[in-house]
Amino acid sequence: MQMRAGVAKKTIRSIRQQAFEATHLFDSHPESSLDFEKVRAAVKDGYDRPFLLIDSTIVREKTRRFTAAMPRVLPHYAVKANPDPRILKLMLEQGAGFEIASIAELDLLLALGVPAADVFYSNPVKSRDQIAHASSRGVLWYVIDSVEELKKIQSIKADARLYLRIDTPNIGSDWPLAGKFGAHPSEMRDIVVTAARLKVDLAGVAFHVGSQCRNPENWRVGIEKSRGVFDQMQKAGLNPRLLNIGGGFPVRHVKPIPAIEVIGEVVNRALEGFPAAVRVIAEPGRFLVSDAGYFVCRIMGTATRANKRWMHLDAGLFGGIIETAEGLKYKIRTDRSGPDIPWNVAGPTCDSIDVVMRDEPLPSDLQEGDYIYLRNAGAYTTAYASGFNGFPLPEIRVI
Ligand SMILES: Cc1ncc(COP(=O)(O)O)c(C=O)c1O
Repeated sequence: MQMRAGVAKKTIRSIRQQAFEATHLFDSHPESSLDFEKVRAAVKDGYDRPFLLIDSTIVREKTRRFTAAMPRVLPHYAVKANPDPRILKLMLEQGAGFEIASIAELDLLLALGVPAADVFYSNPVKSRDQIAHASSRGVLWYVIDSVEELKKIQSIKADARLYLRIDTPNIGSDWPLAGKFGAHPSEMRDIVVTAARLKVDLAGVAFHVGSQCRNPENWRVGIEKSRGVFDQMQKAGLNPRLLNIGGGFPVRHVKPIPAIEVIGEVVNRALEGFPAAVRVIAEPGRFLVSDAGYFVCRIMGTATRANKRWMHLDAGLFGGIIETAEGLKYKIRTDRSGPDIPWNVAGPTCDSIDVVMRDEPLPSDLQEGDYIYLRNAGAYTTAYASGFNGFPLPEIRVI
């Protein structure tokens, strides 16, 4: 029975997704990515392992564009997207705040001189030790999505400012985050009532529309739902004053996407429902760094197996090219011009799951030693990489 419900849910989700695809034939995001000549020059400088080349000018420009599109919304960079200290410094210089998932991320920021008050701890479940550490360093804001987490934080830092992550639609997001975090209506009621009873400062609402969200409506629905939760909080005697509209702002790969200005229009209009005194933040990760980077790796060897062409790269799922596992498609460049054929593209490890793409159309004449360039790969690549099987971590070069 449970399985049937699961199948039905999946079917409903795929019908909604198809309806979304059919009705949103927009593609308003201008072409933006790192100049390929700079990538070629970086390769000429030397290559001994995969690397990510980041152009700091693009990071600066994306931060400016984000703020111009949504003047009321202060970006708090999601450190997880790319925690390289040089990138964090760029964000700091641009006046951004930060969103963290762990105390290691917090310590990295504090070492760079980021004020603890500008850091939002948005991981819905934190250990007691982690909360105590963040509290001792001066972090004020913590997310919750359960009564348990509310009570845990209260027992360690009674004066913490909490914000409630709620469940909102992730329709049309390439990397959905719904289904794990986010309180549903009945749980919200419990949390609000408990906060009021225990005199906890439940001071705001957060949601996340899913990463690489190509559907601006998700923000409208999220903001409207948050408005309802603000009302509930006020009725319970709480003082909500923060709205956190999360991350999810998309970048160009191969599918059509709305420009940040189009999303901004939807967000700005929806925010009119909130008094000016309400502080509004977002947690963009991908949007601020993805376009700024090219991921460069190399073919270690090729093979034909069961009539299928295989190439084995020196970076695979474990080396940073992991988002392809959930269907994300990068635009790929090579230095070959042969006709495309379907290639299976594997990483270097012996693990059978280390296949980053199947039947990817790529030039037939690609060979051992050739470079493979993944466009707009500045986010969620190097951040994920591990040294599994003894292969070196990719390097990050910032220009
Ligand atoms: C709580 C939270 N905030 C922000 C982000 C950043 O999302 P994005 O990179 O899609 O903007 C994530 C990504 O997983 C997240 O979990």
